[in-house]
Amino acid sequence: MYSTAFLDIPPLAGAAGAVTLPGSKSISNRVLLLSALCSGTTEIHDLLDSDDTRVMLAALRQLGCGVQVQGTSVSVTGLGGQLTKSEPIEFFMGNAGTAMRPLTAALAMLGGDFILKGVARMHERPIGDLVDALRELGCRIDYLGNEGFPPLHIGQPDLKLDAPIPVRGDVSSQFLTALLMALPLASQERSITIEVVGELISKPYIEITLNLLQRYGIQVERQGWQRFVIPAGSRYQSPGTIHVEADASSASYFIALGAIAQGAGIRVQGVGADSIQGDIRFVDAAQLMGAKVTSGPNWLNIERGSWPLKGIELDCNHIPDAAMTLAVMALYADGPTTLRNIASWRVKETDRIAAMAIESRKLGARVEEGPDWITIHPLPAGQWKAASIHTYDDHRVAMCFSLAAFNPDEISVRIEDPKCVAKTFPDYFEALFGLATVQPGAIPVICIDGPTASGKGTLASRVAERLGYHYLDSGALYRVTAYAALQAGLSLEPQHEGAIAKLATTLPVRFAGEQVLLSGVDVTDAIRSEEGGMNASKVSTLAAVRTALVALQHSFARLPGLLADGRDMGTVIFAQAPLKVFLTASAAQRAERRYKQLISKGFSAKLDSLRADLEARDARDMSRNVAPLKPAQDALQLDNSHLSIEQSVDQVLNWWQSKAQTAPFALHAHRRPGTPT
Ligand code: DC
Repeated sequence: MYSTAFLDIPPLAGAAGAVTLPGSKSISNRVLLLSALCSGTTEIHDLLDSDDTRVMLAALRQLGCGVQVQGTSVSVTGLGGQLTKSEPIEFFMGNAGTAMRPLTAALAMLGGDFILKGVARMHERPIGDLVDALRELGCRIDYLGNEGFPPLHIGQPDLKLDAPIPVRGDVSSQFLTALLMALPLASQERSITIEVVGELISKPYIEITLNLLQRYGIQVERQGWQRFVIPAGSRYQSPGTIHVEADASSASYFIALGAIAQGAGIRVQGVGADSIQGDIRFVDAAQLMGAKVTSGPNWLNIERGSWPLKGIELDCNHIPDAAMTLAVMALYADGPTTLRNIASWRVKETDRIAAMAIESRKLGARVEEGPDWITIHPLPAGQWKAASIHTYDDHRVAMCFSLAAFNPDEISVRIEDPKCVAKTFPDYFEALFGLATVQPGAIPVICIDGPTASGKGTLASRVAERLGYHYLDSGALYRVTAYAALQAGLSLEPQHEGAIAKLATTLPVRFAGEQVLLSGVDVTDAIRSEEGGMNASKVSTLAAVRTALVALQHSFARLPGLLADGRDMGTVIFAQAPLKVFLTASAAQRAERRYKQLISKGFSAKLDSLRADLEARDARDMSRNVAPLKPAQDALQLDNSHLSIEQSVDQVLNWWQSKAQTAPFALHAHRRPGTPT
């Protein structure tokens, strides 16, 4: 997950490959609760790992269910409709609506001495209609704060189930879902009828509930969308094993990706033609706009069909969430696109009609909007503008606008607060970057070169952290090469140049956070010693070794960008990089820093000899024949002798930012021939 303040997505050229999407939130929490209510053990696969499911899992454990989590597979041993514990339990529901509502209903039916509460925002989310319905059938529920809102106290019920139970359908379909999942607890002897009052909203979500109930042995009789009957003798039965479908709304971004991006097609795994989610009908809408889609039970294959895409006019009532993705596809169409019947957008995580309009206009698009519709005009080549997309703490706004990075003007797109995608898809950007391709050389690279102990590593890794970029510690590659050579019984002298270079071409090195692994063995401490640095300096004078490491260093330039630290990043390895920093500090200062560092780690050190060592290394690094240490012609010098780390980081970020403002095209070295800079 990117927890940076913003994420700059460089211009993307194409996309291809397969992606497995996280499980659907709605299905995950329903399946967890149903597994807890039935008897026996249910093996659940592909469960979504999110805030909402964690809350539900914690509650199930408190109730005494056996819960075992292994990655995205969870086994739940159910209660068999009966509680084993009798002591009072207090449940913390966070802000998880998909846990709060159905648990309230189930606990109220089971009866006990329970308190359900959540974060402040949860205590502002209405639950009165559900509580009314539950009270109607004899449940004991009291409000502990404001009337109509959590927190709640639940006691022992005195169930009266003969008359139909009324529930409002026009506020949240979650109330009906909650009742449908809880009432089979009491339907052994008699049938139970629920009557919906008012027009039922979000019918696709009720379909999901009915479908899953069926998987757990409950055949609800549906009479229109007004009456639901749970037949007498209904009993939950574990399906044994169940797979959670991938989230169909999340799939919309990858369906759009396949329709927009050039490439061999996108394969979405985990959701397909057999999906029980309403949002899967986004596929039809994408096809109307030109996408070529083929599908199987749990997969989709998407390719570019018509290009440009076709502008459409569509009633989107049946796909409210996924339809936002159409708004961004519309930028690549041949005519305007109008999405109708989307009043619900106004009351979601944010006013989504306003958000999509404002942010699309920032990119340069013409947009009109009304109370329940939006029209987006296509944005032709030459008219795209660099924009910083505000995301309103709305995961879907963030994911939608990432697709603007395919713009024909090759402008990078800034997504503010990228971590908001965690609501449904924490690794969305990683998944996108795993499929997207760029023009050769189009990945932004910032080089930080400089002498030994100038603080390059700390500076570069901090800047990388702030931008969400990858980090290359090229010095470590020379250190590991020297280490591997010595292990192989080679000396670091020129007569072994060929053999060491051969080792370096297939160096089995891997970086895991701060750790450096050679063939899976942690060599971090061994290579970080003063001696390790001196050995690295020696092998680094060998031309064949340097050449052997070039491809490996280039391979670190991956989306969304790279911070490269070393001696020749700006002069040789990434000579086209848009920002090069040459970091300096006096030898006295650098020796002093290294001294403090060593002492603080408990090593003994002598200041004088440290200084002599690093001056010797600098002398060798600067005087060698190949790629000697020197500032690139276009490097900016940064003397950090008297700067704190934060000040240095801010300076580099400011330089980067001003490049972005004055020359957004220059952030990636690649230019299409013939395009003005
Ligand atoms: O940055 P460092 O101290 O880990 O680097 C160790 C040695 O590796 C350094 O003295 C010279 C060499 N080196 C190099 O020649 N080119 C690089 N890009 C990085 C390091």
